Amino acid sequence: MKNNWFKTIEKNEIDNEDVKEFKLSNGKEIAIFNLNNKYYATDLYCSHEKVSLCDGFVNGDSIECPLHQGVFKISTGEVLESPPTKNIQAYEVKIEDNYIFVKVS
Ligand code: FES
Repeated sequence: MKNNWFKTIEKNEIDNEDVKEFKLSNGKEIAIFNLNNKYYATDLYCSHEKVSLCDGFVNGDSIECPLHQGVFKISTGEVLESPPTKNIQAYEVKIEDNYIFVKVS
């Protein structure tokens, strides 16, 4: 399967320890995180119910879902605390010309 890099927002559009929602040009919605000026991207929605993780709480390398407080590891998408049982997808990120690019296959 072909892998594609998608251009998203500029680095300075997202504060440290913050998360932003972004819709890729292929229609996929993702969450972009700034953790001490390292950037990460995951699926936008919790795997438990379709709730935006951008309304959740960033704590170090974890994001807490606002609805039932499930917790995912931002760098890998792995479930750290239930009720979710299914991991979310984490995507590869690179910076070019101050823009955040996300690789989605
Ligand atoms: S919807 Fe995210 S934990 Fe339930």
